[in-house]
Order: sequence, then C-alpha cells, then structure tokens
Amino acid sequence: MSDFHYKNGELYTENVPVKTLAEQYGTPLYVYSAAHLRTQAGQLKTTLSQHLPADANAPLICFACKANSNIAVLDLLKQEGLGTDIVSLGEYTRARQAGISPDKIVFSGVGKTDTEIETVLKNGIHQINVESEPELERIARIAEKHKITAPVAFRFNPDVDAKTHAKITTGKHENKFGLTRDALIALYQKADAHAFIAPKGITSHIGSQLTAVTPFKDAFTRMRDLVEMLRAMDMPVTRIDIGGGLGITYTDETPPDLDDYARMVAEIIAPLGTQIILEPGRFIAGNCGILVSQVVHVKQGEKKHYLILDAGMNDLARPSIYDAYHPVMPVLENKAAEHIAYDIVGPVCETGDTFGKNIPLPVMEEDDFVAMTSSGAYGFVMASNYNTRPLPAEILVDGDTHKLIRRRQTVDDILALEIDI
Ligand code: LLP
Repeated sequence: MSDFHYKNGELYTENVPVKTLAEQYGTPLYVYSAAHLRTQAGQLKTTLSQHLPADANAPLICFACKANSNIAVLDLLKQEGLGTDIVSLGEYTRARQAGISPDKIVFSGVGKTDTEIETVLKNGIHQINVESEPELERIARIAEKHKITAPVAFRFNPDVDAKTHAKITTGKHENKFGLTRDALIALYQKADAHAFIAPKGITSHIGSQLTAVTPFKDAFTRMRDLVEMLRAMDMPVTRIDIGGGLGITYTDETPPDLDDYARMVAEIIAPLGTQIILEPGRFIAGNCGILVSQVVHVKQGEKKHYLILDAGMNDLARPSIYDAYHPVMPVLENKAAEHIAYDIVGPVCETGDTFGKNIPLPVMEEDDFVAMTSSGAYGFVMASNYNTRPLPAEILVDGDTHKLIRRRQTVDDILALEIDI
C-alpha cells in the first residue's frame, strides 16, 4: 500500500498525515487514497488493452459498487472511464447521482423487486443480469406493461470452485446464484422469442477474493463453450460479462497476476467478438482505504493484553464475518519500542468483535491512533448501527489535499427515524 506510508515516523495517506485527519474529524474514520483508486483502474485498463486484439472495443469495466459506494468514489472512477455494477435501487441512485451514464450500469443480484426493475427500465440500464426463470418472467411482465424493451444477460453458474472463503463463493451448483447451462439455454430461447426482452449475452461471477487463476480459466472456458452453443442455436450473443473476483493482498496473499488474467480474457473470451464487461470491486478499492481508530484503553487481562479501540465490528465487519485480518499499523511509528502481543478488539459486546489476536505492536497507550489497512472495499459499506453506534465519517485524500466525503453520523441522525408510541 504505497499510497499509505511512514514519513518522519508518521503514517501518511499520500501527502496528508493521518494523525491530522484523525484529530480534525475524529475516529473511527475511513480514509481513502484517490491516487490508489486511479492506479488500480488504470492498471486494469492498460493491462487489458495490452493483451486484447488491437481492433477490439475497450472492455466496459463496471466497478462493483457494493465494495465502496460513496458517491465521490464513484465519481472519481467515472472520470477514469469506469461504469458501475449495482445490486439495488439504492446503488442505482448513487451511480446516477455520481453522473454515471445508464449505458455503463449493469444490474446484478438474485432478488430484484418490481420497483427496482421498473425504475431501471424507465431511467436506463445497460443490462439486467437475470438469475432465474421467475425473475425473467417478472422483468418480461414489467417491460411489457411499460412497452420498454429490457436488455438482459443471463447469469451462468459454471459449477467451478473459486477456492476462496465459503461465504464468498458463488459459482458452485449448491450456491443460490445463476443458472445451470441447460436452464440458461432454455431461458435464453424464451427471452429471444419475447417482444420486450432483448437477450444480450451471458454473465458469471464465481466468487470474491480469488487468489488462484485456474478457477477463472475454468469459468471462462465454460462460458465460451456456452456462447458457442447458444450461437449454434441462432441465439444473438453480443456481450460477455466476466464478473469480478480478483483478489488483493491483505497480509501475505498472492493475488492472480494481472497479465495472466488479461491473457486469459484475450485468449478465451475475446475471440468471441462480443463486448467484454468486467465487474471488479475489491481489486479497485480494497487497498485504497484504511480505518483509523483510537485506543480507548489498554487492558491488562490475566493472560493477555487487550487493545480496546473505538472502532468495532459495526465499523469493519470483515474480521467477525470472514475471520479476515486487516493489518493494524500504529499511526505514529515507534521503531525502537519494545513490542507486545495484543488482542485488538472493539467496544461492541461480543467476543467476535476482535480485529486480531496476538498481534505484536510497539507498546501502545490510551489515545494512540492505529490504522486498519486494506479497508477500502467491503469496509464502510458493511458498517451498521449495532449498539447504536453512529456510522464513521469518510475522507478522500488526493495528493496534498483531502475532502470530507461523508460526515460522521450522529446519534440524533439514528434516532430521527424512530417513532415513539
Ligand atoms: N459481481 C457480482 C455479481 C458480485 O456479487 C460481486 C461481489 C462482484 C461483482 C465484485 O466482486 P469482487 O471483485 O469485489 O471480488 N463482503 C465480502 C465480499 C462479498 C462479495 C459479493 N459479491 C467480503 O468482505 O469479503
């Protein structure tokens, strides 16, 4: 995370000292690096273009905004040419507010409601990714009612093991996502015969935080075979959406080499001559952010030292849900100091509210600041008001400057929605 580094013993995000931000805006505080977001978007675009045939149209990269949906982040990525993969009316609204054009928005998810489908059809959408027969029927009914043709792609479940955490594996038959090959072919034909449905192609997303290349290769190969079968039946296939899933380094993971990934796209998918759509989330945003927190107490247990932070599992849920570890860095470096192994925990009343166990850190004191790294994806977006704890603020750093891109929620904000009988 070169956009987060120590300078004169202090942690910086780009050219801005993290301590200054923590003091000005309070903690817990999400801090994102604009440079990192641009680097990731640029790297993906460049690597793909290096491997794809020169005459191929540029792929449409739709940032999976479930990873980080702050409007300022979406706006920044829009300026890098990215579109958005959305999964709800809320995300659609954000994407549109960020100025993303409807022809760069794809709509994923297994349970789209009437209101959601109606809204995107009326206001514009590049494609709706269909995951089941009842969903196709629902889209057809709404499209017919409003006499609007619905562009759809069908999500293929290729039955490939993504070799990632079970809770974020999506491409096995036992998962709720997508359609088997035969079911997809039958639905495609049905859609093609419908006056208000325009089948555009297929999509697949086999899981998140993939570190192996082979599952992508297997999924892409099965997608290619399926497209060839559809075309042999005279079905029109003009788009292939290959989903997201590229892993990142949190501690010592080795993510797939981007060149290998792009080469596979070029070798397996590009020859089909379709528009290629990608839906990366974590790859773009994961390492763009840190969660800054302050030490409330240092507690000496019978056997352990606990570092009790003011951030909890409600602010960063990944450790409690996926046993993830987001490396903890002291905001003020203390190279010479003696190290102590801490259990780093939050204030929430659950044992699962633990960020790390036996983590060696320089001796820490009350009021010190720490940063939990790699928190730019699935960080703030998964935060909750559990224990009536207000949502953190978010800051976007860009070079020497920074902007508050979401103010801290207050307890009054939370209570304002409740009705006392
Ligand atoms: N497309 C679809 C249809 C998805 O469901 C997802 C993620 C993505 C794209 C983006 O995947 P990525 O490139 O970020 O791997 N909360 C979990 C991750 C859940 C991912 C859900 N779907 C976590 O914190 O690890």
